[in-house]
Amino acid sequence: MIIAIDGPAAAGKGTLSRRIAETYGFHHLDTGLTYRATAKALLDAGQPLDNESVAEETARTVELAGLDRDILSAHEIGEAASKIAVMPSVRRALVEAQRAFSTREPGTVLDGRDIGTVVCPQAPVKLYVTASPEVRARRRFDEIIGKGGSADFDAIFEDVKRRDERDMGRADSPLKPAADAHLLDTSEMSIEAAFQAAKILIDAALKEA
Ligand code: DC
Repeated sequence: MIIAIDGPAAAGKGTLSRRIAETYGFHHLDTGLTYRATAKALLDAGQPLDNESVAEETARTVELAGLDRDILSAHEIGEAASKIAVMPSVRRALVEAQRAFSTREPGTVLDGRDIGTVVCPQAPVKLYVTASPEVRARRRFDEIIGKGGSADFDAIFEDVKRRDERDMGRADSPLKPAADAHLLDTSEMSIEAAFQAAKILIDAALKEA
């Protein structure tokens, strides 16, 4: 059983994916972390972000077991990840590892930008989780303030829009809902309500499997 969850940054995919994985005892892979780990390795090595063959080689060294969002959450890493994610050979390398992960038993939840369209188009449950850019920027802002940090809402809002443009506008595997994806707009829906909606779809798919 594969659950594919796609959507833009800060839409609530991560929280929803973890909740689903916990509930069903499935393995979870946040595929954004594979792009982030590649970007961090390049930044740490002082490598440029525009050399595709170096980026591909680096992508092939990423170990899925060692991915940690706390280490990879920095804003510069997210920006760098979004830049190297436009490179087809980097995507091929990471997609290979993601597909291998998706076959784990008893089931998997993968979240990202192209899971339902490219990585696992055969997934029986596909969700596209979205929210307006304002709501997503507000969540990011509240999260930073909640952790005692300081943040500029307008800068975060611009950032969210720029990231959307890059993720949706790239030629290879742009962010978009699969034709058979179920849309969950969390702008005015709690994560709990989104989870309940997802649960109905997953339970129905499990019955058919
Ligand atoms: O979800 P995130 O913010 O951690 O993702 C960081 C970047 O990685 C995102 O801007 C685009 C890229 N990405 C991708 O291209 N495909 C995926 N399946 C996941 C992430």
